[in-house]
Amino acid sequence: MAFTIAIDGPAASGKGTIAKRVAAHYGFGHLDTGLLYRAVGRRMLDGAEPIAAARALEAADLGDAAALRSAEAGQAASKVAAIPEVRAALLDFQRAFARRSGGAVLDGRDIGTVICPDAEAKIFVTASAEVRAERRFRELVAGGAETRFEDVLQDIRDRDERDMGRADAPLRPADDATEIDTSRLDIETAVAAAIAAVEAARGG
Ligand code: CDP
Ligand code: CDP
Repeated sequence: MAFTIAIDGPAASGKGTIAKRVAAHYGFGHLDTGLLYRAVGRRMLDGAEPIAAARALEAADLGDAAALRSAEAGQAASKVAAIPEVRAALLDFQRAFARRSGGAVLDGRDIGTVICPDAEAKIFVTASAEVRAERRFRELVAGGAETRFEDVLQDIRDRDERDMGRADAPLRPADDATEIDTSRLDIETAVAAAIAAVEAARGG
């Protein structure tokens, strides 16, 4: 039986970690939809035309996910993500994944509003920009990147503004989403809150 859990939120709010853990809890598949936009952004940086790159994207192109995690790929992703034809080209793949038998968790920006407006459970994850920048900064430094906290915070603010301000599928909570502010929550507590929200949706 198909059961879709939509998890949205801004950069480094913790949605990916929560999505992965919720998917493992239920034995569902997990799709990090940000990787699709990052892969198209990466190709644009390499000289490709973004709409053609989005149309040609194959799931196998997401294999080298670590290389797609850079701040540069993230910025490029948020630029190509504002192009309606790019979003349209990535729609069918995401919807097919969402309805796969056995259940699915998708995380991104517009899963609850555009990709899966009928998802059985919707969660919107937030945290202050400073907390999110601190988390992303630690992650990048642990990965060996040389970066400054101020630059990471600026990157997050730029992407927030672009993602919330675009005309097509802007970042916003669905009316029926449960909001979880992870600013003061550790991962265990945040995951437990997400599972409680899914259980409430399953029960009701
Ligand atoms: O997917 P998204 O960009 O929203 O964030 P993430 O990759 O899940 O989390 C970003 C970083 O914050 C990771 O290093 C997580 O371990 C950390 N995190 C945290 O410290 N506390 C939380 N409640 C959630 C995530
Ligand atoms: O992990 P983080 O939250 O930093 O970024 P991501 O989820 O990998 O997304 C990278 C960029 O792709 C975002 O800043 C958005 O512009 C775009 N994106 C989107 O528009 N719609 C989605 N469903 C997922 C990502």
